Amino acid sequence: MEISPFFCLTIGLVLVFPAPSSLADPDLLQDFCVGDVNASITINGFPCKPASEVTPDDFFFDGLSREGNTSNQFGTGVTLGNVLSFPGLNTLGISMNRVDFAPGGLNPPHSHPRATESGIIIEGRLLVGFVTTGNVFYSKVLTAGQMFVVPKGLVHFQKNVGEGKALIFTAFNSQLPGAVILSTTLFGATPAIPNDVLTKAFQVEEDVINEMKAKFGP
Ligand code: GLV
Ligand code: MN
Repeated sequence: MEISPFFCLTIGLVLVFPAPSSLADPDLLQDFCVGDVNASITINGFPCKPASEVTPDDFFFDGLSREGNTSNQFGTGVTLGNVLSFPGLNTLGISMNRVDFAPGGLNPPHSHPRATESGIIIEGRLLVGFVTTGNVFYSKVLTAGQMFVVPKGLVHFQKNVGEGKALIFTAFNSQLPGAVILSTTLFGATPAIPNDVLTKAFQVEEDVINEMKAKFGP
């Protein structure tokens, strides 16, 4: 069989420039690197606290053991277990949240630019859904013990559709997944996104935009 120069070039490029193998945070180069989250230098992640100052407490975090405050406009309390609250996660590429829901509570549509999310229902009954980049909406009502996954970067939400409270824990393949909450991002940015951008984007009158800004503004 004759092998064309184009085939050789393609194989050569694949070998020299393999596809990136990491779909989330970069891999670690040492056992751990407890983050010095108040360091004055900035790097991609956080510099390591000196090993001599690392204590057992750096690897334990009880912030997710307490019920979050759901007395807000959404009826939801999101408690973050990311590198900022739990610096022992630095460079390990993972984090978790706890989300408490009052009856009817909504974790509003948002996306995580740096992570895929998986979650488990601990209590209650929730409608869980996400939308693909092709605008296909996938959703299901889940109860205790059932899991869900949200592919990286896609817009998703959870709504308590049960009678009582609900509780989920979520996990991410990033130490700091980030959250773009659509309502607050678009209508609560500082400085504000100009009204003519938003009226054109949503094809509504300015008073609708002003109402949204009053609800979600800083
Ligand atoms: C749920 O969607 C979460 O981001 O914790
Ligand atoms: Mn989420």
